[in-house]
Amino acid sequence: MKNIAILASGSGTNAENIARFFNNGNRIRVAMVITNRKNAGVIERMKPLGVDVEYVPNRVWDEAPERIVEMLQFRGIDLVVLAGFMHYVSPVIINAFPNRVINIHPSLLPAYGGKGMWGHHVHEAVMAAGEKKSGVTVHYVDEEFDSGEILMQQEVEIYPDDTAETLEARIHKAEYELYPRAIAAAVHRLDANDEPGVGEAAVAVEAAPVSPSEPPAVPKSVEEEWADVLKVKYDPASATVPPPVPGGSQIRQTVAPQEPQRRQQFQQPVAAAGAEGERPAMPPTFLLWSVLCTICCCFPPGIAAIIFSMMVSSRYHNGDYEGAARASRMAEIWIIVSFVLGVLSASLYIPLSLF
Ligand code: GAR
Repeated sequence: MKNIAILASGSGTNAENIARFFNNGNRIRVAMVITNRKNAGVIERMKPLGVDVEYVPNRVWDEAPERIVEMLQFRGIDLVVLAGFMHYVSPVIINAFPNRVINIHPSLLPAYGGKGMWGHHVHEAVMAAGEKKSGVTVHYVDEEFDSGEILMQQEVEIYPDDTAETLEARIHKAEYELYPRAIAAAVHRLDANDEPGVGEAAVAVEAAPVSPSEPPAVPKSVEEEWADVLKVKYDPASATVPPPVPGGSQIRQTVAPQEPQRRQQFQQPVAAAGAEGERPAMPPTFLLWSVLCTICCCFPPGIAAIIFSMMVSSRYHNGDYEGAARASRMAEIWIIVSFVLGVLSASLYIPLSLF
């Protein structure tokens, strides 16, 4: 299972589409959404889907991007997916996730890309220029705006009676088709790059004696599984893109060839938290200390410490590892408060009681 995190600032229709597309399967899962806008529509959209949304203000994106890296690594995120994310993504994040940050842009890049080109601004510029076609691009994110390696593109025709709004609506539809497929392709690349013995495995399968009743178990690629589900013919030898969705409106699709030099092993300092079958260690609950502080030191903060202590294990067992770590830190803080207040009140009480 590969975990993806979606970054979104606005309505979040792409985020919703991606979560609906993948979260019923067992290969890719939207583990979290991060937004930089407190009231972003994506927050409401994720509620019925049960996807966690974290609000991270712009200040943190600008001044402490390493905290976002920690958050993503803590959740065991394999791929970061920008879907209408309207804030600069720091090189700190991009470098921590090499070839693992992708974005969708509503034009045929490199046309109509760059600073200031987002959402409706793109469609207005395309219409003003009298273009006959526009489209959607999914690309890897690098330190420049809209300039990273292109993963997939899909053209969208512009009709004579189109306005920026009608074009935007059709572009959105194309995005809903293209982005899940581009994500599947990006994850497939990760799978290929992550397996150190891909070549050896292929040789081993070739060399193994082939029994007619028991064909060798070669794992299927995302595209092959997809083709099975859609019941369409797919020949991996001649195709470089996942099979088209039947009835899809794509006119042209391109997939950038795999670049060996891009194949870098992803290092996860936090042991793949949330990855299949693995969990990070539970943070300390401090329950005993909380109880001792409640009895021996100051009562109210001691109670607060007990509450946070209990939240550690409940959050941990619900899979909210980050929430558990937060609760553990809070328990610790309230224990200290209880202890300090206890010492202060004792040091006042003893001298006063002597008079
Ligand atoms: C999408 O059309 C996406 O291509 C665009 O923002 C919209 C977000 O819609 N992204 C950019 O312009 C990036 N430069 P959504 O919030 O409904 O998914």
